[in-house]
Amino acid sequence: MPDVFDTGLRPEELDPERPQPFDTPWGSFSLFHVAGEWRAWQSFCPHMQAPLFGGSTCDEAVTCPWHQWRYSLATGAFLGAPEGDDATERGRLARADVRLGPRGTLELVFVEPPRNVRGGFRDGGLS
Ligand code: FES
Repeated sequence: MPDVFDTGLRPEELDPERPQPFDTPWGSFSLFHVAGEWRAWQSFCPHMQAPLFGGSTCDEAVTCPWHQWRYSLATGAFLGAPEGDDATERGRLARADVRLGPRGTLELVFVEPPRNVRGGFRDGGLS
């Protein structure tokens, strides 16, 4: 299984205001424009698999559109849930590195075995 996934898109072809999901060999990852750079995090929420690319982003964090749990787009860490929510299954966002490939397109580079990544992934976990 390849460790690099070419998005086929140049940075200027992406809208920094709209996270872009991609189906990679390791599951779905989305490019988020954070602090002036592109970062790739798992596309679906560790809680109940809502599309995080449809959430809102602010201050290097994404808020899930379904139950408003927040995750860091700097570290992938869980940041908080609305008061009263049981967040024991909070999880952590899996990431991929992002680099500019030889064709001038953004490439995602496999970093760690993701958990809770919908769409199948390398180690045969969730699918
Ligand atoms: S599905 Fe994301 S917080 Fe519930």
